[in-house]
Amino acid sequence: MDKNSALSELKKEIEADKKLPLYGAANLVFGEGNSNTDVLFIGEAPGYHEDQQMRPFVGQAGKLLDKLLLAIAWPRGNIYITNIVKRRPPANRDPLPEEIEAYKPYLKRQIEIINPKVIATLGRFSLNYFLPLAKISRDHGVAQYYGEYILMPLYHPAAALRAGAVLKELESDFKKLPEILKNPPERKTLPKLETKKEDIQNKLF
Ligand code: URA
Repeated sequence: MDKNSALSELKKEIEADKKLPLYGAANLVFGEGNSNTDVLFIGEAPGYHEDQQMRPFVGQAGKLLDKLLLAIAWPRGNIYITNIVKRRPPANRDPLPEEIEAYKPYLKRQIEIINPKVIATLGRFSLNYFLPLAKISRDHGVAQYYGEYILMPLYHPAAALRAGAVLKELESDFKKLPEILKNPPERKTLPKLETKKEDIQNKLF
């Protein structure tokens, strides 16, 4: 089965899963983009506009994401964007641990189908999905391997909209992405991927 068909099947499965939290409370925002991409961006959960349009990152944070992509000459159509939790939590509250847990197996399969080279996490929830002990303020902008994938932790664009200093960091981290893709770092001896002090010492960029 090709990637688009596999993604369509997966989407149907999520739609039909009545046990998922937020089922019936909000629209499904499955994700979109080029399924053959080298780079997969993963955010947190849809907001109001995403819920309305059933597309990820189309509100203010999405507009900033578009600008950041433009600055590195990556059209949005070249990449794929999704979220951990695929329905909007009420009043834009943070996703609950049980919501993240429930949507996790679907995200895992979505990642496996797309099979990107680089996974760019947007914000702490997405980073902690992979590395529960990581800290966004400490670990952003430092690429590391996660299995076969290169994981690049980035601040969430919404956080950058709230603080100029975060925006500067996000812009500078974003600029590292093309280089990571062009010259993928050697795996070196990166051990298992709980982020501890030693892992940070293995930083690649
Ligand atoms: N914030 C997210 O994490 N995801 C979206 O799709 C929109 C805003």
